[in-house]
This record gives sequence, C-alpha cells and structure tokens, in this order.
Amino acid sequence: MYILGIDTSCDDTGVGIVKLESGKATVVANALWTQEIHKQYGGVMPELASREHLEHMDRVLSVALGDADISLEQLGAIAATRGPGLMGALLVGLCYAKGLAQGLGVPFYAAHHLEGHIEAALSDYPDLPFPHLALVVSGGHTHLFDVQEPSLYKLIGATKDDAAGEAFDKVARLLGLGFPGGPAISRAALTGDPTRVPFGLPLEGQKGFDFSFSGLKTAALYAHRDGAELHDLAASFQAAVVRSLVKTCARAAKTLGREHLVVSGGVAANAALREAFSSLVLKTYFPPMDLTTDNGAMIALAGARAIKLGRESSALEVGAEAYLPLGA
Ligand code: KG4
Ligand code: ZN
Repeated sequence: MYILGIDTSCDDTGVGIVKLESGKATVVANALWTQEIHKQYGGVMPELASREHLEHMDRVLSVALGDADISLEQLGAIAATRGPGLMGALLVGLCYAKGLAQGLGVPFYAAHHLEGHIEAALSDYPDLPFPHLALVVSGGHTHLFDVQEPSLYKLIGATKDDAAGEAFDKVARLLGLGFPGGPAISRAALTGDPTRVPFGLPLEGQKGFDFSFSGLKTAALYAHRDGAELHDLAASFQAAVVRSLVKTCARAAKTLGREHLVVSGGVAANAALREAFSSLVLKTYFPPMDLTTDNGAMIALAGARAIKLGRESSALEVGAEAYLPLGA
C-alpha cells in the first residue's frame, strides 16, 4: 500500500510517499520545495508561506509521484500535518490532503508534526525497543519525550524560552550570517575554536530535564559586542547549545534507565550535534539527513504508523491547530 504524506507547517512544501508492505514502511519519494522568498526578510513571513504552498503544491505532488513511479490512483491513504505550525500554511496542506483523499475515495489521516519528526528517525530502525527517549530539536520545539510504546509520548522536558533552532536563527541574524541560521552557524563554526568564547551551562543544577537557550543568546550578543572573533563565537555558541542538549538527555536516560535515544528535528542536521551524541554510551539514533528537516515523507511515515496500529482514519472535519501539544 502506498501512503502519501503532506507537510506545510512552515516554509517547506513537503510531499512524500511510503510503501507499507508486510508491516514495514519504506520511503519511496520525498519531494520538497523550500521557499526562497523568506530569505530577503531574514525570517518566515506567514502570509507569503501560505501563498507559496498553494502555488507549488500541485508541482511537488507530481514530482513525488514521478519519483515513486506511481499514479495518483495507486495511493491507498493520505496523511497531512494538522499542527503545530503556522495556521495559514497548515490549512493549505491539510485541505489539499482532505480533498485528495475524498476525490480518490481513500482514508485520510491527520498527523502531528512532531510525531512525524520522531517517525523519521525510526524509519531506519524499525526494531528500536520501547521505552526509549525522543528529543525533537527544531525551529519551534525543544521537547524531550519518554516514548513508552509506539505513539505513546510522555513529555519529560521542554525549553522554557527559545527553541534550539530559534536560538541558532536569532544568533545567526545577530552575527549577520543570514537565514536559516542553523546551517549558517555550523558553516561559520567549521573554522572556529569552540573553546575560545566562554558560555555557561543553562539551568545548571536543575532536577528536571528542561532546556533554556535565551541566556546563551544574550551571552552571544555580549561577546559579539565585545569584539569576539566571528568563527570562534559561532563555534563556541554551537558547542554550548550541543553541550546543554547532550547533558540533559544523558541525565534523563540515566535517571529513567533508558538506553536508547532518538534525536530528530531540523537542528539534528547539525554535524557537531550528531558527533557529540554519537560519542555517548547512550545509543543515539538520527533520521537520514534528508528526513531531518521538515519534509513530507515523515508525515507519510506517521500515517503508516497509524495504519499499523489499526487506528481509525480521521474525520474530514478535523481542523488545523497552530498550537498542538504531543503527549502529556
Ligand atoms: O524541523 P525544522 O525543519 O522546522 C521546524 O519544524 O521548525 O527545523 C528548522 C530549524 C531552523 O531553526 C534551522 O536553523 C535549524 O532547524 N537547522 C539547524 C541546522 N539545519 C537546520 N540548526 C543547526 N544546525 C544545522 N545544520
Ligand atoms: Zn519541523
């Protein structure tokens, strides 16, 4: 069975297809249009994002079908992100998916964006044991879950202020490095010394598993003002973010007795982060690079999970939600 997944939660128009066969979901297409228009504004402009999704959706769908080498009629189910994300942007993909499902007479599954990110990491590790931890680090989220069984999430920690990706984006803007900030900082950091500019450890001594990045952002601002060298500053800031993520996850794993950790979301594309997590005793699993930042295939994988769990399809009345918590 072929399952189509659509994600339009932010500024990427993602359409992916997975093939679900004997309980195993394989990605067969992952078409993506990354909107260029926001670069000139240094951040995502919500209204422009919605319009661009509308304009490019048909084309991205055609590319996905072509890559999978199937026709529209071969699709057996359609999944789309219902939240969280930008309301107008979400609505485009969600309505498109519902229309498609109704037109083809196939079931529709409303998906959670963060579940998509986590499923992307599980795609290469279908036998990963439960319970395990899952950290989602993206532009909008820094959330740590204890995943007790497939699709059962317990939120054990979250950022108290900025998300990790948001901090990367804001510091990059401050340093004049452009948008999106994460890739820009990691490029600048390549030739910098990560030990040169001192950064503290946020929430040091906390008992819980929360995160905070706004203090690091302010420290970066002061260091920049005081004339720190750009590459050293980028490398040191990146190292501080990574150190905080690694320490808190390692402590959560130890406290809860978990041996496996999934790390996903856009910031999980960061090479320094991948290296730091990979050197832990705790076994860490990342999505393949092309499934790490926002994409449609991860939503098709979330749809495949719902089908494997025998969940009922979603009602066509289900709405988009800008704010949509996952787990309790
Ligand atoms: O998951 P994602 O594509 O979209 C959201 O759901 O937010 O994540 C986007 C975020 C942005 O803040 C971007 O700067 C960050 O992920 N990001 C990175 C890297 N690539 C993307 N952050 C650090 N290093 C990277 N290589
Ligand atoms: Zn995302």
